[in-house]
Amino acid sequence: MFPKLTLLSFALTAISAHAQLVGTYETETHPSLTWQRCTRSGCQNVSGSIVLDSNWRWVHSNSGYTNCYTGNTWDTSLCPNNRQCATNCALEGANYSNTYGISTSGNALTLKFIQPNSNGKNIGSRVYLLASESRYQMFNLLNQEFTFDVDVSKLPCGLNGAVYFSAMDADGGMARFSTNKAGAKYGTGYCDSQCPRDIKFINGEGNAEGWQPASNDENAGLGNNGICCNEMDIWEANSISAAYTPHPCDGIQATRCSGTACGGQSNRYGSVCDPDGCDFNSFRMGDRSYYGPGLTVNTNSKFTLVTQFLTDTGTASGTLKEIRRLYVQNGRVIQHSKVNVPGMAAHDSITTQFCNEAKVAFGDRDSFGQHGGMAGMSRAMAASMVLVLSIWDDHTANMLWLDSNYPTDADPNKPGIARGTCPTSSGVPAEVEQSAASATVTYSNIKFGDIGTTYSGTA
Ligand SMILES: *[C@@H]1O[C@H](CO)[C@@H](O)[C@H](O)[C@H]1NC(C)=O
Ligand SMILES: *[C@@H]1O[C@H](CO)[C@@H](O)[C@H](O)[C@H]1NC(C)=O
Repeated sequence: MFPKLTLLSFALTAISAHAQLVGTYETETHPSLTWQRCTRSGCQNVSGSIVLDSNWRWVHSNSGYTNCYTGNTWDTSLCPNNRQCATNCALEGANYSNTYGISTSGNALTLKFIQPNSNGKNIGSRVYLLASESRYQMFNLLNQEFTFDVDVSKLPCGLNGAVYFSAMDADGGMARFSTNKAGAKYGTGYCDSQCPRDIKFINGEGNAEGWQPASNDENAGLGNNGICCNEMDIWEANSISAAYTPHPCDGIQATRCSGTACGGQSNRYGSVCDPDGCDFNSFRMGDRSYYGPGLTVNTNSKFTLVTQFLTDTGTASGTLKEIRRLYVQNGRVIQHSKVNVPGMAAHDSITTQFCNEAKVAFGDRDSFGQHGGMAGMSRAMAASMVLVLSIWDDHTANMLWLDSNYPTDADPNKPGIARGTCPTSSGVPAEVEQSAASATVTYSNIKFGDIGTTYSGTA
């Protein structure tokens, strides 16, 4: 994926001030979210909760309410360098519903794209599933399946409702970086396979050094540092297109990078991670009547999607060999679409063979294989990963890599270029933030467990 985030900076009235890099103006109350763990003997409720990523939070001086970060720039007296930034600045608690448009009810999580609030508006959000107040829920996906219901009917071209796993530290990095006093309770420690440089705090330090405000994003920018880790995209989707994509990295833990060693636009393949992944998007893989409004998987209404992580031994100690997807809608199990691309077999799941053939058929660089392929992804899964749920728009590529022709100047008849029916002019953030201001996504009924135990339906 091409992640991006948007946050707000704001001025509140101080009530008290005695923080150790955690603000105390707004109590951090994690919205509860029930999910289920399933085995052959049935499913059990698990009482979980979610936490908002730290990048969206108000960051203010430890001793008061001066913004450390306003709009898309750092305060240079509070943040003259990365170390002092971390000792001078505190992350604040979040008012999930009113400030960020994030709400839960029972087993359902709803993320609004735009939430008007007293400071203007919030754009997009990213949350993590917690196991406790201060630790993320860790998932080992090997020989398991992960299932949820989604309603994408209110996600038009240019938006992405994403559900994925990142190899974040369970405590948000507190144990490894003693200057991080906020931890998972405040949503710290995000990383992904794009090695994002828009993260404000990395490894218990700020990311103010070298910060360049974005030219097309009033809330974000890029610092010198980025943070890389393995990423398994279960679901990157809107009502027009959907993809699932493993993105392995060299190594298992989240790793800080600097400058062009983070990859990015000037040096896309320069990081320790695979930025492209091995994606299965049915439209891109040659079936244009499978996913969309009124199609086989009908995005006008809610459906269930199941993702299975099969290993070579059929046990959790084996190595990942296949990632299978199926859908359930209106009580009916819908098998995955088959590849229909010259030079490729009719695969209906992600395997090493599928990935190898796709890279050749599309003339894409095999960064997936170069960073470990399925075995690399398998090692990260064995070490356990954090569940991420988000809604976002794309200030880098207008989401055209998901739902349109991309690159936009390539022949759309060339295999691999067309990914969906959205116009190449769509997805411009300044436009969708107006036209799709009422966009929203609901994820519900999350289930995790043994293969075949998280769903039912007729063939
Ligand atoms: C969130 O903000 C609303 C509106 O200002 C307020 O009524 C509510 O009490 C706040 N919630 C929390 C948990 O602070
Ligand atoms: C499980 O959680 C769901 C959603 O919160 C709830 O409706 C259901 O009653 C729970 N089941 C049990 C057995 O507690």
